[in-house]
Formats: sequence, C-alpha cells, structure tokens
Amino acid sequence: MRVTVHRKAHFNAAHRLYRKDWSFEKNDEIFGKCNNPNYHGHNYELTVSVTGEIDKDTGYVIDIKVLKDIIKTEIEDAFDHKNLNVEVPEFKDLNPTVENIVVVIYNKIKPKLNKDFDLEITLYETPRNFVTYSGL
Ligand code: NI
Repeated sequence: MRVTVHRKAHFNAAHRLYRKDWSFEKNDEIFGKCNNPNYHGHNYELTVSVTGEIDKDTGYVIDIKVLKDIIKTEIEDAFDHKNLNVEVPEFKDLNPTVENIVVVIYNKIKPKLNKDFDLEITLYETPRNFVTYSGL
C-alpha cells in the first residue's frame, strides 16, 4: 500500500521579478509591479507530499519528525525572512518566480529522502495563486 504523507510549512520572503539582461522598460512590461526595484514580500505556504509504502515494522511511510527537520533545515532556515534575489544563492541568476521557487524546493528536498519515495511540492505564493512540481 502506497500512502501519501503531507507536511505543511511556511516562510516569508521578499523578491523582485526581473531579468538583468532586459531593460527596465521590458521588465516592467512583463513583470509589472513585481519588477519594483525595492522588492516586495509574500507569505509562502508550502506542502511537502511524500508517497511510499507503509513500513511493516513502524506503520509509517516516513517519520513526520524526520520530514519536518528536512523542511526546516533545507527550506525554512534557507528562505524564511530572506530576500530571495540577494540572499539565496539558488536565485543569484534565476528569476524567483513561484514556478522557479517550487523547483528549487523540490531539488533541495529530493536528495534527502529515500530513493523509493515519490515527492510532490505544492507552493502558494498568495491564497489564490499556487503551483505544484513532482519532478516530471
Ligand atoms: Ni511577488
């Protein structure tokens, strides 16, 4: 039996959407208010979903404490109350759109899990705007 375990987390972070190789006018046209040079913030809500077999001995798919600690170390400590463009190396040359952030989160968590698990990340940038990524 394969069961999916979900763990929620959140972080607050600032960002600016723009490309260094485009003019301010072009960035303004594509990214609008998100191109504000003084940055703006979001309350990101995250769901990490791990699918695997129930372990016969423990009855767990994954110990939720282990998953919680991975999320804290890899995501919350790295992103919370940070300026993504300036302080998070993954976005030095990568536009921190919610699409790119969800892929970065997936790529940070996946290597920390048993290879037999499937992983899906859901990331809300606003209560109405969210993305999912499962490595496909
Ligand atoms: Ni934004």
